[in-house]
Amino acid sequence: MEVIICPDENRVAQVAAAKAAKLAAAIGPAVVFGVATGSSPVKTYNELAKLVAAGQLDVSQASAFALDEYVGIAAGHPQSYHEVINATVTVPLGLDPARVHVPDGFAADLEAAGPAYEAAIRAAGGVDIQFLGVGSNGHIGFNEPTSSLTSRTRIKTLAPRTREDNARFFASIDEVPRHCMTQGLGTIMDARNVVLMATGENKAAAIAAVVEGPVTAMWPGSVLQLHQHATIVVDEAAAAGLALHDYYQETYANLPDWQRLEV
Ligand code: GLP
Repeated sequence: MEVIICPDENRVAQVAAAKAAKLAAAIGPAVVFGVATGSSPVKTYNELAKLVAAGQLDVSQASAFALDEYVGIAAGHPQSYHEVINATVTVPLGLDPARVHVPDGFAADLEAAGPAYEAAIRAAGGVDIQFLGVGSNGHIGFNEPTSSLTSRTRIKTLAPRTREDNARFFASIDEVPRHCMTQGLGTIMDARNVVLMATGENKAAAIAAVVEGPVTAMWPGSVLQLHQHATIVVDEAAAAGLALHDYYQETYANLPDWQRLEV
């Protein structure tokens, strides 16, 4: 795991975007992104959009696969992840909407929708760069605590804490859906590169558990310790619980030239 600690959330976005842009440039314009919703990656997407606008990043043939979608929300609801991904990723990056995919939380046959999504990811050649946030309970995607570490895209029940955390996006907690369709932890682990962003003190316990705790389904993001190319970009508040804080800073400050990011 590569852990990068930044002074604030703007720097987190710049560094995460620089990391993704470096990886994407090596892959080419047909890069396949895995995209997360939530507030954490939005500034990173904006930074990437700036690089695209400046001609420094070519995503003209890129595809994207979202992590998750609510089940039980109306199609077209502004908080449906179809709408959120369109507003935060597809439009700013100028992606072709036909190449942007979101799990079908509206499907009549929800049981079949998971394997269909897995097949679509495979048909696109797999995800090259997976962006992630993390829930305050350590979830990635909507893989709540006790999710199987090898799970695939399927329906899940949201944890009470997740519904409370996400109530801020709705008029009241009663409007927050109880179910979701999410890529599994096994699906996420198949991505070739992972870039997780977290900011704020509300994420400090989750980041400490994900980065330095045991690999456990109780903190689902901890499965990333088994990933070969996972980068964790956090601000000081989210890094507050990291025992090896100073080591991560020393490591980043002394990267060999070929590993440095242009930020
Ligand atoms: C959401 C999403 C996750 C996201 C997480 C944190 O509900 N399903 O993909 O990473 O919870 O959200 P935020 O970045 O807003 O804190």
